[in-house]
Amino acid sequence: MPETPNRPLPPRLPRSEPDEMLRLPDDRQLVLRVMPMPRDANGGGDIFGGWIMAQVDLAGAVLAARLSKGRIVTLAVNQFIFRQPVSVGDLLSFYARLERVGTTSITVNVEVYAERNPADIHVVKVTEANLTYVAVTAEGVPRPVPPQPDAAN
Ligand SMILES: CC(C)(COP(=O)(O)OP(=O)(O)OC[C@H]1O[C@@H](n2cnc3c(N)ncnc32)[C@H](O)[C@@H]1OP(=O)(O)O)[C@@H](O)C(=O)NCCC(=O)NCCS
Repeated sequence: MPETPNRPLPPRLPRSEPDEMLRLPDDRQLVLRVMPMPRDANGGGDIFGGWIMAQVDLAGAVLAARLSKGRIVTLAVNQFIFRQPVSVGDLLSFYARLERVGTTSITVNVEVYAERNPADIHVVKVTEANLTYVAVTAEGVPRPVPPQPDAAN
């Protein structure tokens, strides 16, 4: 059997806030809410990471499309962290925050919170990601993002 090279792990990311919160954030835009279905789960009952990634891409695109006032494409997933597993029955809320507007690109942070245990609801941050979108023409060529009078949120 070939030897697996020992590759160093990437540095651990700082945790700026606890994963478990009492309530949903009010300092960023709620762009999507969705409840995963059993068909989105694997045999262990956890929701597939790919399903969550697709929803995060959609959520970030809501903000990017609004700011770009036209067609956008996803260029890069700069960071994606699954902090906690997601289960069937979790109500997921996707919050987007504008990070950067370039000439043709828009970079967005997305945080995903799960509300679970309806009898005694608690909120858990399950995922966070950073994505870059590019504003494009109908032909798919990068175009300038319109000026943002109030770039925050
Ligand atoms: C996105 C796309 C139009 C960019 O075309 P391009 O000719 O490479 O564009 P540019 O080199 O001019 O870069 C465009 C912007 O992306 C930024 N960019 C390029 N590579 C990047 C990277 N790896 N990470 C982050 N930003 C990047 C550039 O800095 C530029 O931003 P700015 O204008 O704000 O400075 C082209 O790569 C594409 O069509 N990709 C496929 C998109 C797609 O199919 N997505 C999935 C479905 S939506």
